[in-house]
Amino acid sequence: MPGILVTTRKGAEIAIEAAVGLTLMEAIREAGIDELLALCGGCCSCATCHVYVDPTWAVNLPAASEDEGDLLDSSDHRSAYSRLSCQIVLDSSVAGLRATIAPED
Ligand code: FES
Repeated sequence: MPGILVTTRKGAEIAIEAAVGLTLMEAIREAGIDELLALCGGCCSCATCHVYVDPTWAVNLPAASEDEGDLLDSSDHRSAYSRLSCQIVLDSSVAGLRATIAPED
C-alpha cells in the first residue's frame, strides 16, 4: 500500500494509505477528502480531479496523455505540475508521492 501525502485547498496535509491499483483520485476520495468532484467518474472528461504533483514526483510519473493535457488546458489554474488525479494509477513505485488539490475552476 503506497503512502501518499495530500494537501487540501485549505492547506491541511493528510497522509493516506492507498490500495495498489486505485487511481490517485479514487484514493483521495476513499480517504474522505471531499474536495475532488470527479464528475466524470474517472473517464478523463471533466477535469474536476485536478491536482498538482510535487515536482520531485512529477518527473517519475508516466506522461499525461493528449486528452489529459487538453483538459488541463481548460483550467485557469494549470501549472507545470498539473495532473488529473484520475489518470494516475497507484502502485508501489509512488510510495511517498505528494499531491496538492488544485483550486476549483
Ligand atoms: S474525474 Fe473527470 S477527469 Fe478526472
